[in-house]
Amino acid sequence: THPVRDAYGLWLVSVICEIWFALSWLLDQFPKWYPINRETYLDRLALRYDREGEPSQLCPIDIFVSTVDPLKEPPLITANTVLSILAVDYPVDKVSCYVSDDGSAMLTFESLSETAEFARKWVPFCKKHNIEPRAPEFYFQQKIDYLKDKIQPSFVKERRAMKREYEEFKIRINALVAKAQKVPEEGWTMADGTAWPGNNPRDHPGMIQVFLGHSGGLDTDGNELPRLVYVSREKRPGFQHHKKAGAMNALIRVSAVLTNGAYLLNVDCDHYFNSSKALREAMCFMMDPALGRKTCYVQFPQRFDGIDLHDRYANRNIVFFDINMKGLDGIQGPMYVGTGCCFNRQALYGYDPVLSE
Ligand SMILES: *[C@@H]1O[C@H](CO)[C@@H](O)[C@H](O)[C@H]1NC(C)=O
Repeated sequence: THPVRDAYGLWLVSVICEIWFALSWLLDQFPKWYPINRETYLDRLALRYDREGEPSQLCPIDIFVSTVDPLKEPPLITANTVLSILAVDYPVDKVSCYVSDDGSAMLTFESLSETAEFARKWVPFCKKHNIEPRAPEFYFQQKIDYLKDKIQPSFVKERRAMKREYEEFKIRINALVAKAQKVPEEGWTMADGTAWPGNNPRDHPGMIQVFLGHSGGLDTDGNELPRLVYVSREKRPGFQHHKKAGAMNALIRVSAVLTNGAYLLNVDCDHYFNSSKALREAMCFMMDPALGRKTCYVQFPQRFDGIDLHDRYANRNIVFFDINMKGLDGIQGPMYVGTGCCFNRQALYGYDPVLSE
């Protein structure tokens, strides 16, 4: 009713935009047409592969944690990630945790060594009392009734002792971080007096250290612990190292030589397993007798801590993880989001290798 004849161009542009938005909204709906909800039945997995009193048939899994700069990604958080992996509910001889340090930092190396020591107490505690989650920082932070469902009278005492142990562990890690703030002029020196090979992060040889292994890795109850391996891949100037993808590639090769797990799972250093059953959940798909051979990877959703109650900024990514990804599953499969994904090693190698003579 109020035509503005001079603004004809503006009107045209806005109508075209509206039409385009309508069309793109429509296109956005198609991938959500057929969402799939999947359920796992851990009891059936156990019946098939992990019966009481028989050797477990579950497949070995190599778990990759990637870190770069320990001053930006606090070592305590990485330690929690590693602890939640070492305490996972899975046969210990079938779990190996590889930590990739792309910053070749002695701080990461030393805090991993402390973490391996602490794991000797933390892992048996988690398994004995069925603690969830198995990352100590987040376990002790929970504002819940921690006595709920607990029946052993010794629990209160042991929990208190473990909390103390964890606090002392934290202090040791903090001390390492404080020490790492100021690089000595001649570079870092290791405990045995030799120079740290990674003093130049852009030019250093590959470094591999196995922390817990078949011989040295017993917890305080005398049970074996999963292996923990520190890896800092070789870096040379003038080569393209491809950041995280390059690190993952190096870990695939290193793990192939050391443990060669049939499956690989990668997480970032600021993630932790919120469920100790996570590996078993993945195996429900991977070791499924009918569909397992056709499954390349199982992508876990990411969930976040420390988001405000009503999630005003949509940080939880609910639309992405709970709607779009399930919709994509109905088409062919969800996409790989770069982390929290369990791979079939063979699928990465290719099913049809061309054998050279
Ligand atoms: C971790 O798992 C518990 C128990 O299933 C759940 O209540 C909690 O919300 C989870 N944490 C996150 C960050 O999703």
